[in-house]
Amino acid sequence: MATIAVAGTGYVGLVSGACLADFGNTVVCVDNNPDKIKTLKAGGIPIYEPGLEDVVQRNVASGRLSFTTDMAAAVRASDVVFIAVGTPPADDGSADLKYVEAVAREIARAMDGYKVVVDKSTVPVGTGRKVKAWMAEELGKRGAEAAGYGFDVVSNPEFLREGSAVQDFMHPDRVVIGAESLKARALMKDVYRSLYINETPYIETNIETAEMIKYASNSFLAVKITFINEVANLCEKVGANVQDVAKAMGRDGRIGGKFLHPGPGYGGSCFPKDTQAMARIGRDNGEPLSIVETTIEANERQKNRMVHKIEAGMGGSGSLKGKTIAVLGLAFKPNTDDMREAPAITIIEGLVALGAKIRACDPAAVAEAKWRLESVKDSVAFCASEYESMEKADALVLMTEWNQYRNLDLDRVKTLLNRPLFFDLRNVYKREDVESKGFVYHAVGK
Ligand code: UDX
Repeated sequence: MATIAVAGTGYVGLVSGACLADFGNTVVCVDNNPDKIKTLKAGGIPIYEPGLEDVVQRNVASGRLSFTTDMAAAVRASDVVFIAVGTPPADDGSADLKYVEAVAREIARAMDGYKVVVDKSTVPVGTGRKVKAWMAEELGKRGAEAAGYGFDVVSNPEFLREGSAVQDFMHPDRVVIGAESLKARALMKDVYRSLYINETPYIETNIETAEMIKYASNSFLAVKITFINEVANLCEKVGANVQDVAKAMGRDGRIGGKFLHPGPGYGGSCFPKDTQAMARIGRDNGEPLSIVETTIEANERQKNRMVHKIEAGMGGSGSLKGKTIAVLGLAFKPNTDDMREAPAITIIEGLVALGAKIRACDPAAVAEAKWRLESVKDSVAFCASEYESMEKADALVLMTEWNQYRNLDLDRVKTLLNRPLFFDLRNVYKREDVESKGFVYHAVGK
């Protein structure tokens, strides 16, 4: 097994570090934020991710996982250094690589022998080469001995879904390793030995290919969701049921049934950012990806479409003025407190712009929702429970399909609402069940 340093204890870094320790490696997680490291050392987990606390605790207890702010010591103690720092969008929409660059240079300044440096952050194609160049420049400044240490850069993209990141890391559909030298490939096999011997598909490529696999995979999934969203919109017009369409399509092994659930548009930290980045890489290289460009636009339209669906269902133009709408779920998907690019933001802002007041709830995302919805705060009340948010509301909107919203007591819902009007933006309910209770029911594409 390998000795590993993971730079960055954000979402990807912490999940990766903890799970790599669980595979039997010795891992030290590094962050330059002392408060974060203090929290982790005290057993606290700064993010909401089911199962993560257990993995962290058992590996800290076994001595395989530790935390530090001392990057130089962590680098010297490790054969493999993962870069898992943020790559926030820069003003022009491209990924800002300043944190990646800072860490790459820091590794080169600290290293005392051969290292494999692994890009885990999602970075534009070509970043692996840049990391190599930054490190070479830094090593060059240290003189002949340091220049002779040698290092390899590896691209090892992650495919973790929030809410099931631990499971996804432990049982991935594939491991992708973009590397140039046999030495680096051999070390990466040590890192992932427990998956490798379990015959998890293990794909070795060059660095650019690995970087591209990540963008192509996420963009394809975004295209798939957007495709079914548009089919759903058409189904509404022609009297078809998109759920049956998706089910029948999915039985074709070439298509597959996953990611064919229509809804209010995709959100989250990955799909919006990665589709934007991939579209940009295409444009920059004179090979525009028209399908990805169209997907980005169609996803924006889908969110706005939900606003108009609700307005139309409430009586058409002007009907939202002074009305109260209960919104169940704010996070971009269930089992996360993450509000990044959540469709709820655009949709709530749209409803408020048309004069509505919102009573919203979410099991985990309210704290983040409060500041993300700052611009409309006078029109949004946050409620402690789903039933509280329905009190005297003129319509109910199911925005995010948390489990506790899947089995609502519809009789109780009806007594709480002013009007029995239900917009199910995630197609969780059966039309017959809701209509038989006397509701007017609107879903997406059925
Ligand atoms: C995604 C990828 O799945 C993961 O592999 C990658 O590494 C990071 O991005 P995540 O953003 O955590 O993971 O969430 P995911 O479960 O993929 O959902 C993304 C968005 O698509 C959510 O807003 C979800 O509601 C939406 N979605 C998903 C649909 O609208 N319909 C679907 O059928 C599937």
